[in-house]
Amino acid sequence: MKILITGGAGFIGSHVVRLFVKKYPNYQIYNLDALTYAGNLENLKDVEDEPNYSFLKADITDEETINGLFKTYKFDAVIHLAAESHVDRSITDPLAFVKTNVIGTLNLLNAFKNLWNENFKGKRFYHISTDEVYGTLGETGLFTETTSYDPNSPYSASKASSDHFVRAYGETYGLPYVITNCSNNYGQNQFPEKLIPLFINNIISKKSLPVYGDGNYTRDWLYVVDHALAIDLVFRKGKNAETYNIGGFNEWKNIDLVKELCKQMDAKLGQLEGTSEQLITFVKDRPGHDLRYAIDASKINKELGWSPSVTFEEGLKITIDWYLSNTEWLKNVTSGAYQNYYEKQYS
Ligand code: NAD
Ligand code: DAU
Repeated sequence: MKILITGGAGFIGSHVVRLFVKKYPNYQIYNLDALTYAGNLENLKDVEDEPNYSFLKADITDEETINGLFKTYKFDAVIHLAAESHVDRSITDPLAFVKTNVIGTLNLLNAFKNLWNENFKGKRFYHISTDEVYGTLGETGLFTETTSYDPNSPYSASKASSDHFVRAYGETYGLPYVITNCSNNYGQNQFPEKLIPLFINNIISKKSLPVYGDGNYTRDWLYVVDHALAIDLVFRKGKNAETYNIGGFNEWKNIDLVKELCKQMDAKLGQLEGTSEQLITFVKDRPGHDLRYAIDASKINKELGWSPSVTFEEGLKITIDWYLSNTEWLKNVTSGAYQNYYEKQYS
């Protein structure tokens, strides 16, 4: 079986590539990635020499190249993670999100459809999406697979659009697909523009911790390896033309999470408890900021037997330890363009 994983040099993608390369020595795993600011082959150093792994540098918005690669390699399955993924960047440059997340997904769908020309037996197009397509919750309730789409940011609107196209290709052309919508991930190799690695990096460099608004926004956090395990399960056992929600059963208000992170960082750095908390600064809110996300993951739990294997306490500890022992990785990804981004976003 030849499996194309897009966005495999990014945060979640690299964990999925590693899992598949190691678990399935008889499958050929192709990692297609444009290596944008968020893509980093350092994330896959430990598997790059494996005989069942290949890297293809390509941009999913480049229709001709994508068609050519599908004709050459004849991928049996696609696990599509490549995306522009950061909400703040979508607010400053929405078009980049439409290009990659919508047009890029369409290019992959077309290439897959044209390659197999309705002979879809044993084939699968697996689209990785987000809980943000459902919009925002109030103080109560959970997102289920039947919650209607109500995206509020250009990022979530572009992801919602791509989800709709995948579903429409299933209905119109019989393309075999499955979609998962996951909550906030955290863990090793996450680019330090997202809350947890950004704040770990800032605590290490004694910079302020910019909490948006009053910090009373809630997210449902899942350890990235547990997301990768769920993806493997859905890839193998998920029903065709179905959607599965994936979440951590783990809601935190941002401000509480940040205080917990500060406490753990103080302990790790041998600092007095309360030292890092002094870095917290309340800054201008994110426009269109969704109040609360929380996933009802009972469908994947009941149908496929998935649940998170790691508690938040364990996951956060692994994550902090990883960033503290990989300061070189952090230094590399925060040099150059990152500095300009940071200036613009937080000045
Ligand atoms: P990321 O930003 O860390 O990685 C994205 C990867 O896609 C990078 O390697 C980048 O180089 C690549 N890429 C971007 N544009 C490309 C293009 N035009 N062509 C080819 N490659 C391109 O993202 P992530 O956080 O790992 O998210 C992966 C997927 O999971 C995304 O689809 C995202 O919407 C979804 N998701 C993320 C989370 C989360 O908490 N991070 C939660 C749910 C769903
Ligand atoms: O829910 C899944 C989504 O989670 C994914 O689809 C996205 O790709 C991923 O980026 C993430 O989106 P969020 O916007 O929830 O994640 P982020 O880490 O950017 O922010 C988490 C919360 O922290 C959010 O309420 C905004 C807040 N925040 C974030 C940053 C970067 C701050 O208060 N300050 C910050 O500097």
